Amino acid sequence: MSVFPIYRPRRLRSNENLRRLVRETHLSVDDLIYPMFVVHGQNTANEITSMPGCYQYSVDRLVIAAKELASLGIPGTILFGIPENKDPFGSEAYADDGIIQQAVCAIKDAVPDLLVITDVCLCEYTDHGHCGIVEDGEVQNDPTLDLLVQESVSHAHAGADVIAPSDMMDGRVGAIRYALDEAGYENIPIMAYSAKYASAFYGPFRDAAESAPQFGDRRSYQMDPANSEEALREVTLDIEEGADIVMVKPALSYLDVISQVKTEFQMPVAAYNVSGEYAMIKAAAQNGWIDEKRVALEVLTSIKRAGADMILTYFAKSVVEWLEN
Ligand code: PBG
Repeated sequence: MSVFPIYRPRRLRSNENLRRLVRETHLSVDDLIYPMFVVHGQNTANEITSMPGCYQYSVDRLVIAAKELASLGIPGTILFGIPENKDPFGSEAYADDGIIQQAVCAIKDAVPDLLVITDVCLCEYTDHGHCGIVEDGEVQNDPTLDLLVQESVSHAHAGADVIAPSDMMDGRVGAIRYALDEAGYENIPIMAYSAKYASAFYGPFRDAAESAPQFGDRRSYQMDPANSEEALREVTLDIEEGADIVMVKPALSYLDVISQVKTEFQMPVAAYNVSGEYAMIKAAAQNGWIDEKRVALEVLTSIKRAGADMILTYFAKSVVEWLEN
């Protein structure tokens, strides 16, 4: 490339039409998945203090919210359930009349075209708040697989379109794939939380899902934020075990991981723009310190530019409005 003054990069930045023609990354409604929280009860919408604009909905209100997503053209939602009772084995996670099972049925009934993805994990359902069975203060890997399998099959049975295991137990994608196939759900895809880090950015989510661990932390099963080669090993395993979509989570502090996963595997890559990433922007914007719309769109565009094909984000509904105006 010739050097200045022959080549002047600013030439192609001089007006919006030129900028449109050379723009490399386009954020669109097609990229978005909106997470929602569901609780028992009726006519309930509890706003989550640390996540302004996000609610814990009862099933009836969730259906209204699902209709809104469909009318905005958002392809799908991912659902998180808050049970009535928690116990050591997270029984409501795989109960036929569990909160997620009820929610999935109701949405599929009212808004059949909206893609319903279910998060498969135990931390919302266990009284100790860990993502698996605990013995001697340790989360037990292999015994937990049986429960995750039951939870996945029960979600599929309720009508879930995509199963998304987020527990980070070893071998769970293979176990779930095998069980779904056995139960006749061979066409239901698995979106695996493959590179899920032990992140402090999940704080607001744990308020929303009432799922904070009651002792210790999740560092013996979620990944160390310092590692990226390990992320590639995790993704390799999940693909070998049958994952259809692989996820990196959180997104913003892990753009390098998103980029490596996309380059290395040429698989559909999802990125989770998590609760803490949302809360930071909301809080700063409420203080008048940053411009919410511009910052959120810049962040989401960067996640896409890094290589994500889809983004799970609490900004999804706002993005549609912003992109339309
Ligand atoms: C369940 C789960 C978590 C999130 C998604 N699924 C919390 C956690 O692992 O503690 C976090 C999502 C967010 O912060 O927005 N294991």
